[in-house]
Amino acid sequence: MTLLVKGGTVIGPTGTQLADVLVQGEKIVALLDPLFSATITPDEVVDAAGKYVIPGGIDAHTHMELPFGGTAASDTFDTGTRAAAWGGTTTIIDFAVQKTGDVVQDGLAAWHAKAEGNCHIDYAFHMILGGVDNDALKAMDQLVVDEGITSFKLFMAYPGVFYSDDGQILRAMQTARENGAMIMMHAENGIAIDVLVQQALARGETDPIYHGITRPAALEAEATSRAIALAEVAKDCPLYIVHLSASGALEAVAHARDAGRNVFAETCPQYLYLTLEDQLGAPGFEGAKWVCSTPLRSKHESHAKDLWKGLRSNDLAIVSTDHCPFCMKDQKELGVGDFSKIPNGIGGVEHRVDLIYQGVVDGQLSLERWVETISTTPARMFGLYPQKGIVAPGSDADLVIYDPNGTTRIGVGTHHMNMDYSAYEGVEIQGRVGTVISRGEVIVADGNYHGRKGRGRYLKRGLSTYLV
Ligand code: URP
Ligand code: ZN
Ligand code: ZN
Ligand code: ZN
Repeated sequence: MTLLVKGGTVIGPTGTQLADVLVQGEKIVALLDPLFSATITPDEVVDAAGKYVIPGGIDAHTHMELPFGGTAASDTFDTGTRAAAWGGTTTIIDFAVQKTGDVVQDGLAAWHAKAEGNCHIDYAFHMILGGVDNDALKAMDQLVVDEGITSFKLFMAYPGVFYSDDGQILRAMQTARENGAMIMMHAENGIAIDVLVQQALARGETDPIYHGITRPAALEAEATSRAIALAEVAKDCPLYIVHLSASGALEAVAHARDAGRNVFAETCPQYLYLTLEDQLGAPGFEGAKWVCSTPLRSKHESHAKDLWKGLRSNDLAIVSTDHCPFCMKDQKELGVGDFSKIPNGIGGVEHRVDLIYQGVVDGQLSLERWVETISTTPARMFGLYPQKGIVAPGSDADLVIYDPNGTTRIGVGTHHMNMDYSAYEGVEIQGRVGTVISRGEVIVADGNYHGRKGRGRYLKRGLSTYLV
């Protein structure tokens, strides 16, 4: 089977070109001068005239079916990867979980069991370590070599759940420094936060906004700085700060990067567009829709503006979603009368490509930087490049035909995620995901879905190729 994507403008991290993309089977085989491609007769033609052709989105931070706060994230690997495909994302990297006291390999096996046969797009795993001990450290080596899992997430937050102390973090970093893996860090001072949470509840401050107020930006900045220092002590272990939301945390990352360190960070669309006051502070219990950690930040401070700047300067390398949806009914509602019982997470896997394209429309990012932050850098950072993340001969034919003249209106009535609300209800995007191709197969076209569950494959990842 040959397929020709014809008439589009191909966008990569280093520039744009008018080119037709020739696909054979699952792979891109050539980028052709449109004059030349007129002489070939492919089996299938996808019209991309007037549109952008970009590598399929890679969402490096999702939590399908994550058990959390007495419930579980509402998207399964089936519903969540289907929604991702609708939104132009053709690869996710989800987080397998080792719960404290459990065997790392058992946690991984459980995640494979959830995902296998259910994904619509290709998928890989990071591993969450909920208990760093000698066995877990040995398991890290084994996962890197045998399982294609080359990144491990630790938590400085959530004492009693996923929390690691500084000694555990240092040991995991030393192990990663030896085996080449990346340490991903949820950087918030969870011990101090728990004190603030108990004090707020004792004062009767139970509304959702207190979730944000009890997780101040200073405690994200402090934990980020501490993680960076621990990574330095571990002889510059590669460190990736997840869901960075605060200016002070960004400053710490920028400082380390200016010193040439292997320190990287991602942010998420919610921190670029939504705020403590307007969303988390919505009347009554409404704000629960936007309870996530790190929390939305104050619009009276410069966080969002600084994050956009960080995306331009590459102090923020990637935009991921941290997709972790919970419905209001029966899930977020667990926290009525006590914000600390609201399950943490926002769903957005379907909207990342559009929401960051809006940054291009607004003059915040170039087209090239858009593609880099949503696809090319995630592939390089997490050992999937050049199989993924680039429109080039030899790469998987994961392509999105993006229409800059189309529009997208986000809302619960039209999204495909398994959520009973939208975190971005009513937002209008000046652009639209048109055709989505995954390994040479058209899975979304003209508003119709042609994919199917089970076609997505597990990707064993290599080591990061992004390190200095
Ligand atoms: O609120 C969030 N982010 N929920 C998902 C778990 C995590 O910490 O990434
Ligand atoms: Zn986290
Ligand atoms: Zn800098
Ligand atoms: Zn997360």
